[in-house]
Amino acid sequence: MSNRLVNMAAWVTAMAAILCLVTPAAAKLSTEYYAKSCPKVEEIVSDVVTTKQITTPTTAAGALRLFFHDCFVGGCDASVLVSSNSFNRAERDADDNISLPGDGFDAIIRAKTALELQCPGIVSCADILALATRNLVVMLGGPFYRVRLGRKDAVASSVASVQGNLPGANMTADQLISLFAKKKFTVQDLVVLSGAHTVGFSHCGEFARRIYGYKNGGHDPGLNPRFALALQKACANYQKDPTIAAFNDIMTPGKFDNMYFQNLLRGLGLLESDTVLVTDKRTKPLVELYAANQTAFFHDFARAMEKLSVFGVKTGRKGEVRRRCTEFNDLSV
Ligand SMILES: *[C@@H]1O[C@H](CO)[C@@H](O)[C@H](O)[C@H]1NC(C)=O
Ligand SMILES: *[C@@H]1O[C@H](CO)[C@@H](O)[C@H](O)[C@H]1NC(C)=O
Ligand SMILES: *[C@@H]1O[C@H](CO)[C@@H](O)[C@H](O)[C@H]1NC(C)=O
Repeated sequence: MSNRLVNMAAWVTAMAAILCLVTPAAAKLSTEYYAKSCPKVEEIVSDVVTTKQITTPTTAAGALRLFFHDCFVGGCDASVLVSSNSFNRAERDADDNISLPGDGFDAIIRAKTALELQCPGIVSCADILALATRNLVVMLGGPFYRVRLGRKDAVASSVASVQGNLPGANMTADQLISLFAKKKFTVQDLVVLSGAHTVGFSHCGEFARRIYGYKNGGHDPGLNPRFALALQKACANYQKDPTIAAFNDIMTPGKFDNMYFQNLLRGLGLLESDTVLVTDKRTKPLVELYAANQTAFFHDFARAMEKLSVFGVKTGRKGEVRRRCTEFNDLSV
């Protein structure tokens, strides 16, 4: 009997070892990762980004966008933070970066600076970006979710890697669904993560086609006519000044809530990639659910963000802890 138990124990250990070998990197992350090496990491990141958000209210939306772009292009590895140099054109300078907002970058750089004073060389930029994004979502009224830590920073970042990996403002539902599916994200993940457009803004160039000269000089029929008119006025000078932008959620732009979904049902979706979510029969029921029930949106958003935040993470020797978030430790690459 006891012999069988021993055999059993050996078997369990062997299985555990095998499972460990095939376990994805994400399973190695833990909320306790810095418990000994940098116990104040959460507090420090929280202090820095809170201050930044109070002084610059566009920070939260900037960080969310940055985080999504980082994760969808080769995993959550802070590759998007690297600056281009004379040897390399980095991810953030890709054509589709649609001018990633500087306030998000700045919050991460400041948090890194504060952490390097407390525990030099310990906390990765990828972990800082993940934590900062979560904290900022909560600060705007959105849901809390767990962020496990231990990501390493990428040792490569290239413009070429962006190609075909990010949603475009004018993508169809089919294109969006297949882009997400390619990364094992579901239709529900697509709809619920699009809910991040409850904050932030988009430049007129991203939706100009919808409001000017859309088939016979009109506007996209998917847009509420008064909304289209207001956008035509607001964007009148966008070709001279490409920085002119409109809020993604015109009703409650500074609040993380389910208004984005309510807007979609009223023709107030800013981008084509927003509006297609109400015209496609696979996504429409989810838009209706989240528009009617903010609790359901928050619950599903939190789960999707947890999933996103471990997507393609690098652990162990697959990456490094960068000393500066904008450059690799080995400057010759
Ligand atoms: C991408 O973003 C960076 C940083 O905001 C900016 O300097 C660069 O001009 C952008 N690239 C393009 C092609 O828009
Ligand atoms: C989206 O816009 C780009 C250029 O602005 C264009 O090449 C592409 O065909 C458009 N895609 C769709 C689905 O309309
Ligand atoms: C809203 O969604 C939550 C979470 O899924 C659920 O528990 C609740 O019953 C829903 N409320 C209504 C009014 O349907």
